[in-house]
Amino acid sequence: MEFVRLLLLFLHLLGMGMLVAMFFVQRRMGADAPLNKGWLHSSALQLLTGVALVGLAPLTDQDYNHIKVGVKLLVLVAIGVLVAVNLNKAKPATWLTPALAGLVVVNTGVAVFWT
Ligand code: HEM
Repeated sequence: MEFVRLLLLFLHLLGMGMLVAMFFVQRRMGADAPLNKGWLHSSALQLLTGVALVGLAPLTDQDYNHIKVGVKLLVLVAIGVLVAVNLNKAKPATWLTPALAGLVVVNTGVAVFWT
């Protein structure tokens, strides 16, 4: 079961990397470009792997801090809502990309510094 946890954590970290990469992809696409679907895919990966890590905790012998996980889930929901609302807009607001990246950084900080 430890391998399953490590595999999920591996995918979870790749998802974080994808979200950070999306910031640069979006910047490169230019201010007039619509929101890249990669935001949706990488945040969905974070949700799936995060929920699976927590759901399998009894089998993987982990005791996660539920308040910390709840905060991470809330921040990810905020990311998901912002992405979903803006996905079909021809020209999303200029603050959207830095706001999404900021929320990703917040969740990374929560993951690492909240023990
Ligand atoms: C943008 C969204 C997210 C980012 C950037 C993120 C980032 C991270 C990072 C960097 C770690 C590794 C921390 C460490 O090993 O010290 C981690 C672990 C973890 N994350 Fe997330 N996370 C996100 C969303 C979520 C969500 C929504 C959940 C749950 C619903 C979740 C659950 C977990 C769990 C349970 C671990 C610990 C895994 C383990 O060590 O066994 N994460 N996350």
